[in-house]
Amino acid sequence: MAYSDKVVNRFKDVLNDPKAHGVGRFDPNDPNVATGMTGAPSCGDVMKLDLKINPETDVIEDVKFKTYGCGSAIASSTMFVEMLKGITTEEAQLIRDKDIANALELPPIKIHCSVLAEESIKEAIENWDEKKATRQLNS
Ligand code: FES
Repeated sequence: MAYSDKVVNRFKDVLNDPKAHGVGRFDPNDPNVATGMTGAPSCGDVMKLDLKINPETDVIEDVKFKTYGCGSAIASSTMFVEMLKGITTEEAQLIRDKDIANALELPPIKIHCSVLAEESIKEAIENWDEKKATRQLNS
C-alpha cells in the first residue's frame, strides 16, 4: 500500500510544526467549545476534535485536534481543520468521509481513517447541540 503525496506531505508538515496545523486543544471549560472523540475498533486509533464556535451564528471559528493513529488519520485530521474553519455547524454536518478520503486520495484499505474523521465531526456537533439545548433550558 502506498500513501499519496498528499498524505505524506501533510503528515510531515504536522510533525514539523504541530501547532500551525491545529494540533492541541481548547479550554474544555470554555462554553463555546464543542468536543468529539471517536475510536476505530479495527485498529485502536483515537481522534479528538475541538471546535470553537460562535454561539450567535454557529460558525466554527477555530479547530484543534489530537489524533493517536496512522499517517492517514493524522492527514485526515489536518484536512478537517481546513474544511471546518469558517463554516456553520449545519454545513459541517454535510462533510462525509469520502470527501476527506477523495481529497487525500486514500487507498481503500485506509478509508476507515477518514470515517474516524467524519464521526469525530458528528460527535462534536452533537456535543454543541447538547450545550445549546442546556443553555436554552437555563436561560
Ligand atoms: Fe487506524 Fe488509520 S489505521 S485510523
